[in-house]
Amino acid sequence: MAKQDNGESLAAAGSAVEKSGAPAVSPGTAVVASDALTNPGLPPHNPRVTDTDPAKERHASRLVGGLFLLSIVGSIFAIVAYIIFPITPGDMLSVRLNTLFLGLGITLALIPLGIGAIYWAKNLMSSHELVEMRHPTRGTDETRAAAANIFTLGNQESGFTRRKLIRNSLIGALAVFPLPAIVMFRDLAPAEDPVALFKHTMWKKGTRLAIDPSGAPIKAADVTRGSVFHVIPADLYDAEHVLDEKAKAAVLLMRLDPSELNELEERKEWSYDGIVAYSKICTHVGCPVALYEQHTHHLLCPCHQSTFDVTNHCEVIFGPAKRPLPQLPIAVDSEGYLIAQSDFLEPVGPSFWERSV
Ligand code: FES
Repeated sequence: MAKQDNGESLAAAGSAVEKSGAPAVSPGTAVVASDALTNPGLPPHNPRVTDTDPAKERHASRLVGGLFLLSIVGSIFAIVAYIIFPITPGDMLSVRLNTLFLGLGITLALIPLGIGAIYWAKNLMSSHELVEMRHPTRGTDETRAAAANIFTLGNQESGFTRRKLIRNSLIGALAVFPLPAIVMFRDLAPAEDPVALFKHTMWKKGTRLAIDPSGAPIKAADVTRGSVFHVIPADLYDAEHVLDEKAKAAVLLMRLDPSELNELEERKEWSYDGIVAYSKICTHVGCPVALYEQHTHHLLCPCHQSTFDVTNHCEVIFGPAKRPLPQLPIAVDSEGYLIAQSDFLEPVGPSFWERSV
């Protein structure tokens, strides 16, 4: 009896599909709703003022043209500014002026262009609502066969697979073609040898550790437990390229309870009474590691959250950095000032392929 009921209901479902004009496919076990909503269609079209008032349309048209002309002025301004305010190496004012006026020109070129395009689309282009029905994206069998035929014909006429010498030499030429561009990428590297640049900083034996940015030397007695200092070499401002040197030599100085420091055997002499100094340049991609959590003794890089444990020679405990922050060996001079014992013994900053340690 139940079987018969089921059969009857399926038959009824089948007839529902047929009645609605849908493709004659079995509904399977799916429920065919008999009270489906009818498509309410689109709301009535409301003409815009620019559709009904020719004066408003002309005004809108002039406005869009004016915005595009303003964009042209901005582009020309950017070119002129680039020529009038060239960048002079070492002159920060020239960099600022160049950036400022170039940026203003590009802004003036892009903003009116964007506003003009939007205004044009919203007020002058046709605003009639359109409905595009979905349709299968697969081509007909004839179209597919014709497309395959075109490839076969092309192959026959060009002799691509038949003329092996031409085919192989063409593939070789196309494979080698991008190589000059790859070689030219080398010009993007610094003019000097980047490996040497990364390997050495301003720190050397006897350089005093100084507060960033004042340059005041730091006495060991000034570094209280739990404090952190942003440090530069005391002679940083004598350098020819101060910012370049600072970008490599910046250091973080912290004092911990010596019993909390888990120092490596070979680095026992690198700290002074719980005071340790580590490079501030993240070993991931070089952001300044500027956040120190006093209770956990963790240093956090705000860029991608690499976290370094100061108690364990700044090993990475979280994040994408792949190696610990390099440690600067420090000591104290006869006047009680903190000094470097040497330069870093490994390159600071991001890992790079020529790194030897
Ligand atoms: S630069 Fe520090 S985590 Fe990426």
